Amino acid sequence: MKKTKIRRIGVFTSGGDAPGMNACIRAITRAAIRQGLQVYGIEQGYKGMIEGKMRPLTWHSVSGILQLGGTILKSARSDAFRTKEGRAIAFEQLKHFGIDALVAIGGDGTFRGALEFMNEYDIPIVGCPGTIDNDIYGTDYTIGYDTATNTAMWAIDKIKDTANAHDRLFFVEVMGRDAGFIALRSGIATGAEAVLVPEQIVTIENLLAKLGRILSHRRRSCIVVVAEGDELGGAIDIAKKVQGQFKDYDIRITILGHIQRGGSPTCFDRVLASQLGIEAVQALLNGQTGVMIGKRHEQIVQTPFEKAVKYHHELNPTLLKIIDILS
Ligand code: F6P
Repeated sequence: MKKTKIRRIGVFTSGGDAPGMNACIRAITRAAIRQGLQVYGIEQGYKGMIEGKMRPLTWHSVSGILQLGGTILKSARSDAFRTKEGRAIAFEQLKHFGIDALVAIGGDGTFRGALEFMNEYDIPIVGCPGTIDNDIYGTDYTIGYDTATNTAMWAIDKIKDTANAHDRLFFVEVMGRDAGFIALRSGIATGAEAVLVPEQIVTIENLLAKLGRILSHRRRSCIVVVAEGDELGGAIDIAKKVQGQFKDYDIRITILGHIQRGGSPTCFDRVLASQLGIEAVQALLNGQTGVMIGKRHEQIVQTPFEKAVKYHHELNPTLLKIIDILS
């Protein structure tokens, strides 16, 4: 393993923001300062790197942010960084600011960008998984997922009250572009009658049969949690397909949307973010690069970016069965 002399690290958040990113920025900054490093915050991810939007972070400049949602460094998705020219400018900017290593907080798009950058330029990069989707291979939990799931649970509990009051059939759409983690966990936690996730193909016939069974037996309200990336479509599409078959039922749709992305991180996310942030700095100081720091079975683990972007984090099949057993 090559030991690199690092003096100044840059930290940035990229892709969709996630609650706990600030806790991670704070941990990275303070852990680095404790080790005698200087820290620069890069605004708006790769976009800000290209535009030279960087500022020093100090012990005090990251105080009071642990409990804040969003990201003090802002986030963005950058088309320019996908080009060779864009990455060349980004590297020049890093040299200009004297930054000789990076910690990237984000999802698979962030790590894909980091990988390309590292293949072209000699700069060590370590990643921390930050996305509400929990869809990153190499960690049981991503920063922000626990908060988003709790927010979804809180919202679905409220929807259930009104669904019960009117005996309505609700389709609640939660986030998760390619993954059903938020849908599955919030569905179990709220006693949803069905959960539709991209990882499990359910035909419209199967869904109709299931809803038919539930509604004819008990004639009461019903909640179906739909991951936005489900194969059958989003909540609006699915409700349309179902509507004709349940004419006696009032159907309503709720799309939870970005409410799931904001808000103060849960205790779980704050602790996870703090731990991963500290470990990311340590990994850089140990001479490691091109790895994402994750946590599996309560152990800190490192996964090469190649693997983190190539493989999928699988849904736990046991959790999928819970909905069928209990609804
Ligand atoms: O990846 C996180 C996520 O919140 C997804 O669940 C969702 O599909 C997407 O980002 C929304 O992105 P945007 O905020 O750019 O609309």
